[in-house]
Amino acid sequence: MKCSIAPAKIILFGEHFVVRGKPALGVAVNKYARVCVKEGHGRVYSTQLGELEKGSPQRALFDVALEYVENFANKQAKLDVYVDSSIPVAAGLGSSAAVVVALVYASLTLLGVEFSKEIVRRIAHEAEKVVHYRPSGIDTTLSTYGGFLYYKQGEFRLLSDLRFPSDLSVIIVDTGVKRSTGLVVKEVLERYERCERATKHIYEAAGEIVELAIEAIKRGDSKLLGELMLINHGLLWSMSASNKVCDEVVYTLLELGALGAKISGAGRGGVIIGLFSRNHAEQVVEKLASKGFNAFIVEPDYSGVRSV
Ligand code: MEV
Repeated sequence: MKCSIAPAKIILFGEHFVVRGKPALGVAVNKYARVCVKEGHGRVYSTQLGELEKGSPQRALFDVALEYVENFANKQAKLDVYVDSSIPVAAGLGSSAAVVVALVYASLTLLGVEFSKEIVRRIAHEAEKVVHYRPSGIDTTLSTYGGFLYYKQGEFRLLSDLRFPSDLSVIIVDTGVKRSTGLVVKEVLERYERCERATKHIYEAAGEIVELAIEAIKRGDSKLLGELMLINHGLLWSMSASNKVCDEVVYTLLELGALGAKISGAGRGGVIIGLFSRNHAEQVVEKLASKGFNAFIVEPDYSGVRSV
């Protein structure tokens, strides 16, 4: 049996604006999908979902990915797959990418072929493409390599030397509100088109925020980083990507001492991220839990997918 883990991701800055050619900055975080594989009968078990029947929608990603793995390895195999993931599903944290990346890594390891992380990323991305509508590849890249990723117009740059300021913690609040990413993206783009003379400046500002944020992280300027998050949230709000639930969480986080907070991902639900001084983070999560929020601290993962 071979097992591997692959991390979740958050978008720190630039979601939505990235769809029209502006940059985005994402980081892998320490919530993991764990996948184990062994020679067996072609079955897939998930701790969260039970056995996934052949032909079921959840099963498709596994079947496609394993077919690509077999083609690459030039070997036929009937693998049994065991999945255990601590990543909330459909919340903008890249849970399906993490599962497929861990699956590809574990399967290639079991089959005993030589492979690189780039092969894992490519196979996982191709599998995601078949199953999900036009994935950008941000999720599979971050889950494979870990660390920070700058993404612009289809080009990826891994910011391998970038490290998060050590006095900071990121808290994630899962609103539990599920929404259609496609619908939010469509309506944001429609607003862009209707008001282009004004909205093009919003997009320009969002692009500058990403560049400023990278500088702020390099300098360890936590205060500026928080401020940039708030501006980014305001820009997303003006493009209709926020809603009352998201804004209430942002205000709650600010009341609890956040340096900044914003939507992460498509918005109108999903997750909100908040930036806190590391000394207070545990206490803040306890207070959030007592108010009924599903909140947790995440740390950057700088390693990406690996065997365990
Ligand atoms: C969704 O996680 C991020 C968006 O920017 C959409 C996308 O980039 O495909 C909203």
